[in-house]
Amino acid sequence: MAEQATLTLGESSYEFPVHVGTEGERAIDIRNLRTRTGYVTLDPAFGNTASCESAITFIDGERGILRYRGIPIEQFAARPNFVEVAWLLIFGHLPTQAEYDAFAGDLTAHANLDEGMKHHFEGFPRTAPPMAILSAMINALSCFHPELHELEDSDQIREAAARLISKIRTIASYAYRHSRGLPYIYPDPHLRYVQNFLHMMFSDPYRQYECDATVRDALNLLLILHADHEQNCSTSTVRMVGSSQANLFASCAAGVCALWGPLHGGANVEVLQMLEQIRRGRITPEEYVKLAKDGDSKVRLMGFGHRVYKSFDPRATILGGVAEQLLAQLGRDDPLLDIARRLEEIALEDPYFIERKLYPNVDFYSGIILRAIGIPTNMFTVMFAIGRLPGWIAHWWEQHRDTGSRIARPRQLYVGPALNETASLSS
Ligand code: SDX
Repeated sequence: MAEQATLTLGESSYEFPVHVGTEGERAIDIRNLRTRTGYVTLDPAFGNTASCESAITFIDGERGILRYRGIPIEQFAARPNFVEVAWLLIFGHLPTQAEYDAFAGDLTAHANLDEGMKHHFEGFPRTAPPMAILSAMINALSCFHPELHELEDSDQIREAAARLISKIRTIASYAYRHSRGLPYIYPDPHLRYVQNFLHMMFSDPYRQYECDATVRDALNLLLILHADHEQNCSTSTVRMVGSSQANLFASCAAGVCALWGPLHGGANVEVLQMLEQIRRGRITPEEYVKLAKDGDSKVRLMGFGHRVYKSFDPRATILGGVAEQLLAQLGRDDPLLDIARRLEEIALEDPYFIERKLYPNVDFYSGIILRAIGIPTNMFTVMFAIGRLPGWIAHWWEQHRDTGSRIARPRQLYVGPALNETASLSS
């Protein structure tokens, strides 16, 4: 017999079905709780609430497991190919050679922006935050593609996904070039995804950026490790906006805004600023950790802790190794890596972090890799967004195809003034 959950309220008992996930996780189905009992549940920040059933990504926070469509992320490290993983997340299987070639061809074909869009960049101050530009320009894309507002079949979602995944690189690189008063570099149709992005970022009209294979693989892997993470804040935002039948561009633009926050994707910038503070000698690693433990300081050890991982974030483990290898292969040292390793060493032996199960997360080492590639700090969260975009698209499309999907509309517990308890307007 299927498992049931019993809720006793006063003299009444209610049975609710329990759903069991692929890996044995259990969820009490309370979708008709209010209709049957008049009660709602209260779960601020939704830490105990499954908003949906999803087949895209599985995380086991206690065991530090992360799988995309059942494939452990560690398996992508040997031959990292971000475009292949983007297809896997969106369409649910690794692409055949024909599917891959067609999708890669679409990405190449759609790399350019409408020339009209380029004028938008001129309207931003050079100091404009790149995440503000990214969100605005992803939304602006929908003005140039009205035919992709309604997506009903896999050909249409593939077309929209190819345009977004390709053009996010162009928007990001143009935002960088604009901030430095540099000419925009058009995409080169002979270059593959990551190489073309780095070409648009770092080439000049008279000098082509040469992409080192080590850098190519490191950036492919970094983007793969950021590609999806089930119902995190920004992906839940994309689902929330998409649940109103808003188009894919608008939903992803909203995801960019959620990712920008320093507690979420913005943490990779905060990690670098923390490491730089220590490098400049303003504070020692030991003093910083001490501050982070003091609740009154409002200082956190950025890049540490996670709502779901209560053991190592497997992405941090991989990225720590990538940072070491990349710097060694480039023949460079980065004092920030040594500082990061020291902070990790101190924190992992400190009861405060051990008791709270706080470990390095995806943001702790990613900035050191991006810095070694030459990406400026204020573009780090943009890089997170480039990586996360396929995951947002996959979740939007999964929800869009769910015939049982409804507009998301949580309830609340009202604790404000009772009727006419404050000033009455009738006098
Ligand atoms: C990402 O959800 C995802 O999947 C996100 C992400 C993805 O791929 O989409 O993984 C990407 O956003 C990673 C997280 C990046 N953010 C940071 O690195 C910022 C620093 N980390 C924290 O702010 C915090 O750990 C969060 C936001 C990540 C998680 O916060 P929670 O789950 O709400 O935990 P909490 O704030 O309730 O903290 C529990 C305790 C508190 O202490 P007490 O009140 O029990 O005494 O742990 C402490 C916190 O003060 N704590 C930290 C800490 N993180 C938590 N103390 C010092 N330094 C930290 N980093």
